[in-house]
Amino acid sequence: MRSHYCGHVDESLDGQEVEVCGWVHRRRDHGGVIFVDLRDREGMVQVVYDPDLLDVFATAERVRNEFVLRCKGKVRLRPEGTQNSNMRTGKIEILGKELEILNRSEPLPFQIEDDTDVSEEVRLRYRYLDLRRPEMQQRMQIRARVIRHLRNFLNDRGFLEIETPFLTKATPEGARDYVVPSRTHQGKFFALPQSPQLFKQLLMMSGMDRYYQVARCFRDEDLRADRQPEFTQLDIEASFINEDQITNLMEDMMRDIFAHVLEAPLPQQFPRMTYAEAMHRYGSDKPDLRIPLELVELTDLMTAVDFKVFSGPANDPQGRIAAIHVPDGGKLSRKEIDDYTKFVGIYGAKGLAYIKVNDLSQGREGLQSPILKFLPDEVVDGIMSRTNAKEGDLVFFGADKAKIVNESLGALRIKLGHDLGLVEHGWRPLWVVDFPMFEFDEKDQRWVALHHPFTAPIGSVQDVAADPAGALSRAYDMVLNGTEVGGGSIRIHNSEMQSEVLSLLGIGAEEARDKFGFLLDALQFGCPPHGGIAFGLDRLVMLMTGAQSIRDVMAFPKTQTASCPLTAAPSEIGVAHLRELGLRQRQPAATE
Ligand code: AMO
Ligand code: AMP
Repeated sequence: MRSHYCGHVDESLDGQEVEVCGWVHRRRDHGGVIFVDLRDREGMVQVVYDPDLLDVFATAERVRNEFVLRCKGKVRLRPEGTQNSNMRTGKIEILGKELEILNRSEPLPFQIEDDTDVSEEVRLRYRYLDLRRPEMQQRMQIRARVIRHLRNFLNDRGFLEIETPFLTKATPEGARDYVVPSRTHQGKFFALPQSPQLFKQLLMMSGMDRYYQVARCFRDEDLRADRQPEFTQLDIEASFINEDQITNLMEDMMRDIFAHVLEAPLPQQFPRMTYAEAMHRYGSDKPDLRIPLELVELTDLMTAVDFKVFSGPANDPQGRIAAIHVPDGGKLSRKEIDDYTKFVGIYGAKGLAYIKVNDLSQGREGLQSPILKFLPDEVVDGIMSRTNAKEGDLVFFGADKAKIVNESLGALRIKLGHDLGLVEHGWRPLWVVDFPMFEFDEKDQRWVALHHPFTAPIGSVQDVAADPAGALSRAYDMVLNGTEVGGGSIRIHNSEMQSEVLSLLGIGAEEARDKFGFLLDALQFGCPPHGGIAFGLDRLVMLMTGAQSIRDVMAFPKTQTASCPLTAAPSEIGVAHLRELGLRQRQPAATE
């Protein structure tokens, strides 16, 4: 039907006959001459219709936006002055000789343009139109190229692509499960996998040695720009490897796809930073290294000050006081500071004290701050020397439980970086390592696994049992420009250690047997040492395409409330279907 993609017709074809198919992006009637911009996935080409071919011209007159056409014609150079050097097809046009309307289109709910201001709800409802936008076409193409290169890379290194079940049992990755009722086992449910974690470990126990899968994962959790209920992991596992081997291989893989797909070089060696250092310096376990602001520790300076807001946390073992030094921040207005104070409030901060450095030569007099009166000279001197604040600068303070200070100042650091234009250009990957094995859940008063319960700790069973709070794990996260793109670990391959970790997590022998008896059994039959990682493919492609949300790199994503405006899923099922599944619906609360 066609000889070329619209977007591929260029001056090398001057004088030749071509046949293109696509959608009418725009039709312009210049009295006597009709111009049609015809679009397909590769781009756009201009087709011109002269009135001397009566039939063809009459057909061209009937053409409207988004009609589907087949056009045959001769390529010629555009007249001087009408060329568009920004487009591959910008130097030529096709003089139309034949024209067939393959299909018509109703007027569209929105224009197929990259700069669209329609709501996301409407875009998702008509996703097939939204995907026609050149920007979305490009994103989907980059996504496909990324997946292709990742597969090639892993295939070349002996990894086997193996599929694991969707209808399965709950896997503990920390979110709620999506469940599927069983018809043949009434009252019982499958869970959709939150990740292939347990199956990939079983594959190592099966001797597969090196596995990968482009795997769909399902998590019923609060959604954000970088979280979807259904998303894709590049899931990887290998036997007889240690942390250095797997992280080095994954670095190679990243360098390879960035080079192939974006022609962007990544550093020869990604820096490795401990979790403790990341929290200390950036208040986050996924620091964006492009932003040159850091948290400055002040806790020890504040133990004796006569200001409860500071002395309280300074004398609390779980407290922290830290500062962010903002070069040139003196220019921030009262209103801007108030807005930042509101912003940190989202993360639980009760305020945002600050000091503006107006004039260094005047000592205290040259500083402007609502808290200065509470701070003795030596503390002020300490703040100034640790933050290295200069004239015209500003210092923000956070004082609270360490968790609140880290979250609020960590987020403020990012916001300031963007607001003040401090974000450096380029790619700044790093590995975060030496995560704590457990985290104490204050609400439930119990330990939870920071990664997942199959991650190996550093040290022996006895070490872990003696000091769960201090235990570190053999986990590693890959962080890129402030986004966690991947996470993994060396796993527990010894059943004694696995039982100990489950029991520290408050999972008793019976519950453990019920939930992952199959894994515990498998550990008894010659389990090799193994480890792996999973990348959030959507997040990776989001970063590589510069998209703001992973929804923009998924063909058919869900909304923030986990629904699909296109298909209207989720939807009700009929009474008969419910009965067949052995289910009865509870009445909505009001009529119950
Ligand atoms: P984890 O839970 O860290 O690890 O997930 C791995 C990566 O998947 C991405 N990701 C998500 N992307 C979009 N939407 C979500 N809701 C979502 N949740 C996670 C992130 C994350 O880094 N089984 C382990 C991996 C392992 O240990 O090998 C796991 O799933 O980019
Ligand atoms: P107050 O004494 O509550 O009026 O607070 C005096 C200053 O300290 C104000 O600038 C507040 O924004 C700030 N502040 C209050 N609580 C905190 C806190 N927990 N961390 C940092 N600054 C705070």
